[in-house]
Amino acid sequence: MAEIAVLGFGTVGSGVVELIDRNQEQILKGVPEGIHVKYILDLRDFPDSPYADRVVHDFDIILADPEISVICETMGGREPAFSFSRKALEKGISVCTSNKELVAAHGPELIETARAHRCSYLFEASVGGGIPVLRPISEALIQEDITSIIGILNGTTNYIMDKMEKEDMTFEDALSLAQQKGYAERNPEADVEGHDACRKIAILSSLMTGKTVRYEDIPCEGISRITKADFGYARNMRMAIKLLGMSRRNADGSLSVRTAPFLVPEDHPLHSVTGVFNAVFVHGNCVDDLMFYGRGAGKFPTASAVAADVVECCRCRGSHVEVRWSDETLALADPSEESRQFFVRVGAASADAARAAFGDAAQTVQSDSPAEDEYAFVTGELTEKEILDRIGRLQDVRACIRLLDLGK
Ligand code: HSE
Repeated sequence: MAEIAVLGFGTVGSGVVELIDRNQEQILKGVPEGIHVKYILDLRDFPDSPYADRVVHDFDIILADPEISVICETMGGREPAFSFSRKALEKGISVCTSNKELVAAHGPELIETARAHRCSYLFEASVGGGIPVLRPISEALIQEDITSIIGILNGTTNYIMDKMEKEDMTFEDALSLAQQKGYAERNPEADVEGHDACRKIAILSSLMTGKTVRYEDIPCEGISRITKADFGYARNMRMAIKLLGMSRRNADGSLSVRTAPFLVPEDHPLHSVTGVFNAVFVHGNCVDDLMFYGRGAGKFPTASAVAADVVECCRCRGSHVEVRWSDETLALADPSEESRQFFVRVGAASADAARAAFGDAAQTVQSDSPAEDEYAFVTGELTEKEILDRIGRLQDVRACIRLLDLGK
């Protein structure tokens, strides 16, 4: 048996333990001797759990056990997850994780530690929950020049916006429903302000380029300013509003990365990704368009991705599973030079000023809901710098949302 330990017996950690029991027959196809969870590390006790006898409270017990070859870090957060992961890797114990915060902040360093100690640091579950997307990008698409990755990477915000679009809910009501359903955290800031999606597009962009794309360098906007009124216009334009993480190679070879709400036309495959589902849309120069779709969160989908990494680590014991992500920081393209169309709403008193500022290229749009006393339009192609400059001249700007173009 390959002996492993699980750090953190929360939603994902308990899913990993249960999955390994439930799917042992499937696991035997990859690891003929089988996989056994020897320890579960948590601050709490779980007297009613069938796994109660495996719970320990001291990480050093796990570290000192020479039988342990893989650790699943499903604790989340930076510390003590970082210290525990580094100590395990330094002892030649592979680490598999769902912790996107830690991966986005310390991924290359932990990969390098794993390489130096002939073990592995794998993190499939950190992006897209159960969707196998990181290994396909790193391995199945190694021959491709990947020119763009666009993802719906946060299930909570996709659920909220779906409710606002289809059931005409306010942001506050949809968020409260997401919290009742257990999708959104009590403190939903990381999801609704886009930080979670931003970390995930940083990880994807790093694997796309092999260098470090720092999430701190990515312009990040969440969905808290999107209103019911915006969806009235979106529906009439046959578009959905989605929080996207976007990474695109420019003609000069530079990379533009951004996290923001976008209007997505109905003929784009990302339009149909609803509820808590996630999708990652990839363009390679030879393979053309690909879309990876599935449950971006949840106990068993996320546990499935962690368990896949555990199987890979067990199969490759004594060697390092290569992940091409160096610690060299990639300088991103100037975000103010990105160009696209924008949807803008202004109060009626600013309509003339808006027409003057945006000229004939602006196309008026209507809402499918009772009209507010306002003027709404889609601009021609403008850079981020230009749109900021023009809306900065107007009073009572109620919305400014980017349009996803189909061509790029
Ligand atoms: N809060 C995240 C989401 C969980 O809603 O997608 C998975 O990373």
